[in-house]
Amino acid sequence: HLFGFNSNRVSGHFDPIAPSNEDKLVLPKGYRYDVVAAFDDVINQAGDKFGQGCDYNAFLPINGANHRGLLATNHEYTNIFLHGPLKDGKMNADQIKQALYYQGMSVIEVFRDTDGSWKMDKSSANARRINGFTKFELTGPGKGSAALGGNTSVTGTFANCSGGVTLWNTVLSCEENFTDLAAAASLPLTHYGWVVEIDPFDGSFLRKHTALGRFNHENTAMGLAKDGRVVVYMGDDKKDACIYKFVSNGKFDKAKGRNNSELLADGTLYVASLKNGSWIALTYDAVKKTLDNPSFKTPAGLKGTKEDFLKLFQNQADVVTNCHEAAILLGGMPTDRPEDIEISPFDNTVFICHTNNDLHGNIHGHITRIFEQDDDLGAASFDFEIFAAGGRQSGFSSPDNLSFDGNGNLWVVTDISSSSLNKGIYSTFMNNGLFVIPTSGPSQGDAFQFASGPNESEMTGPYFTPDEKTLFLSVQHPGENTTDLSKPTSLWPHRSGDKIARCGVVAISGFQLG
Ligand code: FEO
Ligand code: CA
Ligand code: CA
Ligand code: CA
Repeated sequence: HLFGFNSNRVSGHFDPIAPSNEDKLVLPKGYRYDVVAAFDDVINQAGDKFGQGCDYNAFLPINGANHRGLLATNHEYTNIFLHGPLKDGKMNADQIKQALYYQGMSVIEVFRDTDGSWKMDKSSANARRINGFTKFELTGPGKGSAALGGNTSVTGTFANCSGGVTLWNTVLSCEENFTDLAAAASLPLTHYGWVVEIDPFDGSFLRKHTALGRFNHENTAMGLAKDGRVVVYMGDDKKDACIYKFVSNGKFDKAKGRNNSELLADGTLYVASLKNGSWIALTYDAVKKTLDNPSFKTPAGLKGTKEDFLKLFQNQADVVTNCHEAAILLGGMPTDRPEDIEISPFDNTVFICHTNNDLHGNIHGHITRIFEQDDDLGAASFDFEIFAAGGRQSGFSSPDNLSFDGNGNLWVVTDISSSSLNKGIYSTFMNNGLFVIPTSGPSQGDAFQFASGPNESEMTGPYFTPDEKTLFLSVQHPGENTTDLSKPTSLWPHRSGDKIARCGVVAISGFQLG
């Protein structure tokens, strides 16, 4: 028993499992799971359906309860189990409509029943969908700008990957690989690739915050600078893309509640240079100064001439809209696909999953730990280390989402692509897993496996209830390599009568827990 600090919590106590290649969600002895919602389940009285491609989860207690709350879940993408096989790999008009409906987010109400099992409460007045048809108010420099076609609001969110909860109890959701669906649906590309904010308890509160930049957003991790400004760390999940942090101009004021959201409209976006441990401010003035330098040369990794960039960048809205280009122009460091980021609640160090990057032979990825100067999240400089490296020696490959428990352990899910799973150099890991890695003490940096996912799935969105007696977890894309619906490669979650695999969200708890 590894984590004997508090055996009355999921996070407290387990015997690690061995890797598995079964079409099952495998957990340590003494643990169980309940599927609280799966793809296409009805979620409310209006008959709305749970989306596909479940990713990030946030549990928001109702009246402080650990056994009843709203669960906000991201829906990242759609696949054969929604659309059927695509003709020539292209969606028709009906399939595009389906994709816009089934991506985005779900808000559902969940509760722990008297027998200890977790269920969805479909009578909830808060249960609803947020998707490709939902209207969002824009905030920040992009609002009303030429880059966004002069719009002050935009329609739709999709490709919602990970996210985060704010200090004022709303949920941030990140638009990641948005280009394919936006293009297929003939939507303006600059309206997507942002961070959206919703209030699970208020369906009318819907914002897209352009000050946080536009890129392939993985996640948000929010904390406070020593002086009270709000800091948000974000990864851009592409090969050779950067790590960002936003620092608000104003200070967090708990008494203002949800009005603190305005802090996300006004601040400075920084990109990390790991070369010299500095945060570089992405401002229009800095971009202009760089381009005006007579010895300007297009940096490696960018395409275009000085004239192209002068045309692209004419104001701050253009900088946040073309964030990656601005970041590389100003010296931001390309990294190995930054996925999730979490701030340690114990020492303010910042953990980043660099999932992998075959362009540089980083096949199994690593977790980077950033030490901000003076442990101040608002600092302008930092140091860093490779906290844990994927590979045979550590037992995990391709780290993706992260979550901290109250014992200082990092919970890490892996995302080996389903075309590589159980083959060649990936055989040893078997199916994707969930690992627990202590961030201090004698086992610091060692990975212990807590769960193994069903065939071709990755697990996403680990999120604890405040008492850590329950862990919500998404099982994303089981059976995604299926090409013939009569021969699905997974039938998870194996509900009676089901003929297809269904991604879904499970609640994991211990048998011994009350
Ligand atoms: Fe959607 Fe970067 O994972
Ligand atoms: Ca991810
Ligand atoms: Ca996370
Ligand atoms: Ca991934």
